[in-house]
Amino acid sequence: MNRIPSEIVDQVRTATDIVHVVSGYLALRQRGRNYFGLCPFHKEKTPSFSVNPDLQIFHCFGCGAGGNVFTFLMKMEGVTFPEAVKQLARDAGVSLPEEADDFREYREKEALFYVLNMAADYFKQSIREDKGATARDYLEKRGITPEDFETFSIGYAPQGWDNLIKRAAQRSLKTELLEKAGLVVRNKEGRYYDRFRGRITFAIKSLSGQVLGFGARRLSEDNSPKYINSPESEIYQKRYILYGLYMARSEIRQQDEVVIVEGYTDFTSLWKSGVRNVVATSGTALTEDHAVLLRRYTTNAVMLYDSDQAGASAALRGGDILLENGLDVKVCSIPQDMDPDDFVRQSTPDAVKRTISEAVPLLEFKIATLEHKGKHGSATERANATRQILTSVSRVHDPIRRAFLVRDLSERLNIEEVSLWSEIKKLDQQRRVRVRQTDETPETDDYFFRKRGLAELGLLEAVLKDPELIPKIMRNINLEHIRHTEIRAILAGLMQEDIDPLTFQPEQVLARVETPVIAKRLTQVMMQEDSHPRVWEFTRDCIVELQQAIVEEELEDLETKLRSTSGEDMADMKNKLGYLVNERQKIMNGDYITD
Ligand code: UTP
Ligand code: MN
Repeated sequence: MNRIPSEIVDQVRTATDIVHVVSGYLALRQRGRNYFGLCPFHKEKTPSFSVNPDLQIFHCFGCGAGGNVFTFLMKMEGVTFPEAVKQLARDAGVSLPEEADDFREYREKEALFYVLNMAADYFKQSIREDKGATARDYLEKRGITPEDFETFSIGYAPQGWDNLIKRAAQRSLKTELLEKAGLVVRNKEGRYYDRFRGRITFAIKSLSGQVLGFGARRLSEDNSPKYINSPESEIYQKRYILYGLYMARSEIRQQDEVVIVEGYTDFTSLWKSGVRNVVATSGTALTEDHAVLLRRYTTNAVMLYDSDQAGASAALRGGDILLENGLDVKVCSIPQDMDPDDFVRQSTPDAVKRTISEAVPLLEFKIATLEHKGKHGSATERANATRQILTSVSRVHDPIRRAFLVRDLSERLNIEEVSLWSEIKKLDQQRRVRVRQTDETPETDDYFFRKRGLAELGLLEAVLKDPELIPKIMRNINLEHIRHTEIRAILAGLMQEDIDPLTFQPEQVLARVETPVIAKRLTQVMMQEDSHPRVWEFTRDCIVELQQAIVEEELEDLETKLRSTSGEDMADMKNKLGYLVNERQKIMNGDYITD
């Protein structure tokens, strides 16, 4: 679904209660008119997260997070605005235009979910019965207890060709449905049989905890594959799914870091040892989609892969993908010939945490790994390894750190520093071209650390408090002088709307805001008690600040010009300079404010 018509957004908003929605995620307690709970967006022990039912907004006094019911869901679930509206529309019984078309597809997906749940129940039941004894023994040796079966949705697919098929038949479920869900396979003669037989099953779940498929491990060291996995299906697309993310995401958000491992058992061991900000790639290479998914929760990744050559190159490949997609990547080293599961089970929880905290930046890891090839490989291998390392070096912005890295590399790889520098310069130039193409919006959060940005935002705040100020502001400021496009657009919209102060709803202004910093600030303002009595004084100050900023910018321009001119223009310019300085004084005196 693309754009949702604004009438429908309004309809959903009025049919939804933010208190009810937030209660689905955290415990709320009423105190006065408002509700309070522990903030889901930062770690805290006493509740500073509040929900205001009158304004239908939330606000955290601790971390400053805030917004409306849609932004709450966006932040909580990491979904886009239309997705949030769609989700709430479903709960509120508001029908969306496309839903009729989606209906068939929706029914089909529900059916797949249903059989996958049935299979998960069957596996779960089997591991506790007599036939599950070998599986239980095997797991016990690996430190996984019956209690863990529940936590991680671990089960057992018993020996036999058609256990699941029979079970489905008892429930009148078609075998074709099992096939679509990846639970059965058809042989050349067209006969169906169970995909998972005599194996331990790990359920793979979606973010909402729905089973999407299974990874199934053999019980003994035979010639069969160690793991058999569900194939992709309509509902299971591997490039979007990370094993365990549904359990770990709140911890990932709170710790602002994700530990990435490869295997199911690496995941379970880490989780049990108390490292709960963990996900597993479960045998698939990390994709750009995984990176985007993780970025909803954190931008800091620590890769904890097997310590062998295969593990190292998987970490390098995956690490580069994460890096290119905006994550900060570190790599952990564990003792030779161990996987994280072995390592965790042979260490104390503290030692595990220490090892994770000692992870090194991807670049350093890359140098250490490629050094060998860069030194001793064939000429081509050496050149490739060197270039790969230099690509990462060229991403380091700090010139001093760069210089040290280059000197260090020159010694380690036995290549002249000048050759390394000239290669880096080339890479730099390539990158600069790319950056210039994408770096065209000057409107960053930094804008609001400066006087001018604060003044512009202040005007918007004032309007929320008292919409009657709109004409006053317009008398004193030319809209063209508001530099932030979103603020300018909102003020321009309000100006044209002929607002009735009695029915004016600030949350409707908030609903239009797309820039997070602005949304956050406006929510803070809305949470303040009533309208503050001195709002006009505040507005005046903002107007003065803005007028001042405008003159000061003109002054700066003029001074730069003065430095490079001589002769006749000079006198004119000096005149103008005098005039502007005078103006600035008047502005500061408030001479240009009309109440
Ligand atoms: P590993 O070979 O490192 O397995 O593969 P592991 O996780 O350490 O398994 P255990 O501890 O011996 O039980 C890492 C991951 O790659 C996938 C699985 O998701 C596994 O967890 N894999 C591995 C497969 O899909 N198929 C295989 O045959 C092997
Ligand atoms: Mn292992």
